[in-house]
Amino acid sequence: MPGMRTRLLFTPYTLGQLSLPNRVVMAPMTRSREPGPSYAPTAMTAEYYAQRASAGLIVTGGIAISPQARGYCNTPGLYTDEQERAWRRVTDAVHRRGGRLVAQLWHCGRVSHESVHPDGAPPVGASALRAESKTLGCDAQTGQAVVVPCSPPRALSTEETARIAPEFAAAAARAIAAGFDGVEIHGADGYLLDQFRCPYLNHRLDHYGGSLENRCRLLLETSAAVAAAIGAQRVGVRLSPLGIANDMRLDPEPDTTYPYLARELDRQGIGYLHLSDQDSSWIHRAHDPLLQRLRHLFPRTLILCGGFDEERAERALHAHTGDLIAFGRPFVSNPDLVERLHERRPLAPYDPRTFYRDGATGYVDYPAATETPRVAGVARS
Ligand SMILES: Cc1cc2nc3c(=O)[nH]c(=O)nc-3n(C[C@H](O)[C@H](O)[C@H](O)COP(=O)(O)O)c2cc1C
Repeated sequence: MPGMRTRLLFTPYTLGQLSLPNRVVMAPMTRSREPGPSYAPTAMTAEYYAQRASAGLIVTGGIAISPQARGYCNTPGLYTDEQERAWRRVTDAVHRRGGRLVAQLWHCGRVSHESVHPDGAPPVGASALRAESKTLGCDAQTGQAVVVPCSPPRALSTEETARIAPEFAAAAARAIAAGFDGVEIHGADGYLLDQFRCPYLNHRLDHYGGSLENRCRLLLETSAAVAAAIGAQRVGVRLSPLGIANDMRLDPEPDTTYPYLARELDRQGIGYLHLSDQDSSWIHRAHDPLLQRLRHLFPRTLILCGGFDEERAERALHAHTGDLIAFGRPFVSNPDLVERLHERRPLAPYDPRTFYRDGATGYVDYPAATETPRVAGVARS
């Protein structure tokens, strides 16, 4: 451990209008507990996030901006009045426990399956190129999430593409109406905005394809529209430089692409940039040239995510490569992660088998270190 050094993770931080009591962010994690036909969060969703309210900031799992944006079975949306009312119960529960939370908004694009679309429609993409990867479709009999190959997408027309940014903005306005403290635009992991960026997966001939500026247009139009709707400082954007998840290809020019995006997002004045490292390698290196460059070009808040433990987090904070550190899987099984890290208590192991399964087990039944074990199905508040 870093000896007598200040433990920066447990120091406060000001993020726009928000005062975070610590630098620990709960990373966005889809948990597939919001069944159709409403795809609205439930009382259990509210309990899950409220249990984790001691995080400096919670980022929800991906929330679909439209029915077309859905990519996984039993995941929530924010495009109906019913969903908006249900999210209000979640934000109230987190705020009552003294927490802060932002809604991660996504359009899954081609990382999707026809069974998650009400009319069985095919997913959409920048181009009609199928993702050679898996998603969670809905089993027609049980309604449960089942692992399935992604369906072949159809390419969005230019007019349809131009409607995506306003849809993000509308969902962002609903998020604020529902009490969220901000939104995070999912620009990472091979979903729609990321697919447009990728030259191998975007064969478009219109002004959303071709040059770097054209390929990044949809992401930057989206962040600008969302910033105009709710105020730039309440907007974050998540990127995964060097990411290959969901059948992406390595960006051929990451040292050009990501600095371009960081610079443009900085110009728009958005509140934070969230960098996700899918293989937990470069993001831990204080002298990684790309990380240094992005830090320089985006001088406001930088969140780093991917394989962090306390020691790595402290190293990054002391090197000032990031301002906030996001933890994903440790939060699944440690609702009191902040306290456990602070008290140096051991972390409870998570069970990947219940990441995406219906029900309370593996969702709201992991106890805090100081609690007696919760019984699955009767989780206490
Ligand atoms: C169950 C699960 C669901 C996830 N869902 C999302 C998601 O909805 N949006 C997103 O941006 N990342 C998602 N991720 C990625 C995490 O945010 C994070 O980047 C990843 O878990 C690496 O961080 P960690 O090593 O601290 O777990 C998910 C990860 C897990 C384990």
